[in-house]
Amino acid sequence: MSEPAVLNPVRTKEDLLFEDSLRPRSFDEFIGQSNIKANLKIFIEAARKRNEHLDHVLLYGPPGLGKTSLAYLIAKEMGVGIKPTAGPVIERIGDLSAILSNLQSKETLFIDEIHRLNPSVEEILYSAMEDFSLDIIIGQGPSARSHKLQLRKFTLIGATTRAGRITAPLRSRFGIIHRLDYYRDEDIKDIILRAARILKVRIDDEGSAQIALRSRGTPRVANRLLRRVRDYADVRGQAVITGREAKHALDKMEVDALGLDDVDRKILMTIIENFGGGPVGIGTISAAIDEDKDTIESIYEPFLMRIGFLERTTRGRKLTAKAYAHLGVAYPHRDAPPVPQKKLFKD
Ligand SMILES: Nc1ncnc2c1ncn2[C@@H]1O[C@H](COP(=O)(O)OP(=O)(O)O)[C@@H](O)[C@H]1O
Ligand SMILES: [Mg+2]
Repeated sequence: MSEPAVLNPVRTKEDLLFEDSLRPRSFDEFIGQSNIKANLKIFIEAARKRNEHLDHVLLYGPPGLGKTSLAYLIAKEMGVGIKPTAGPVIERIGDLSAILSNLQSKETLFIDEIHRLNPSVEEILYSAMEDFSLDIIIGQGPSARSHKLQLRKFTLIGATTRAGRITAPLRSRFGIIHRLDYYRDEDIKDIILRAARILKVRIDDEGSAQIALRSRGTPRVANRLLRRVRDYADVRGQAVITGREAKHALDKMEVDALGLDDVDRKILMTIIENFGGGPVGIGTISAAIDEDKDTIESIYEPFLMRIGFLERTTRGRKLTAKAYAHLGVAYPHRDAPPVPQKKLFKD
């Protein structure tokens, strides 16, 4: 791949430097997703009134939409501590047992990328989540005994970009499940204005609107584009980012008017050129463009579907007339003879 894609919502090292300062500190600062916020507020208030732990929460959706931010906010609003970890980090049962038995009453355990838990570790979670107990084996061989260890009542918050990868037994143990969706352009605009205030960047209404249009409905991308556009404005000696200034910088970065990048265009053009517009399976697309199937499914496909460029059918992915129009390719007539399809791999 050429330079790192400025539109890729996966967190980079540079994002990490800014994310702490930009992370919303209260539900009021958390812009958009009003439904999820309203629900969470009620559950939190109810738990607090009863002086109980909050039910386990599962947050899912594409990267950069605010799952980690929400996890921290939930703990903050509950007035409890949060212990962050991630699925791939917890390698052994002992690691998880240690974390769980050290949790204070009502405390939050945040497991990012929870779909990547090792299955034997995941199994330990079931009883921990359900009745706050751990079955541990003491000793070895014939003298080994199973011992039930009681835990303090805690809240597990799991986050994942791949809800489909969560096993049914794990999923069923979450009482509160929310899917984060892409943000509306108006919300992204407010997120940009807020970030600009924190970063002391001067930007006008039109400038933030221009950046919002190309941010793929994703706060992390919006914040990153803001920083890149600021770089351009600084170099050009512009004190304020106006609509014109923003547009100039974004054009230079080759971010198109809908926020599509190289990989999106490659996916779309490949479906047109090699597979007659589809339907074609995701595995076949992935092989044809040499891009990881998981990445396509968790990052590119959801956005292309959201803007109405891609449709999911039982026989695979299919491009819409809207996608053809955006790419400037004539939409094939329905009665035209079907284009032969190469099936390279099984999906
Ligand atoms: N609703 C929001 N309001 C304001 N900023 C947000 C919002 N959601 C996300 N952000 C910003 O986007 C960045 C990425 O969010 P994060 O919670 O890390 O996403 P995820 O965990 O889903 O990948 C955060 O640092 C934060 O600055
Ligand atoms: Mg995260």
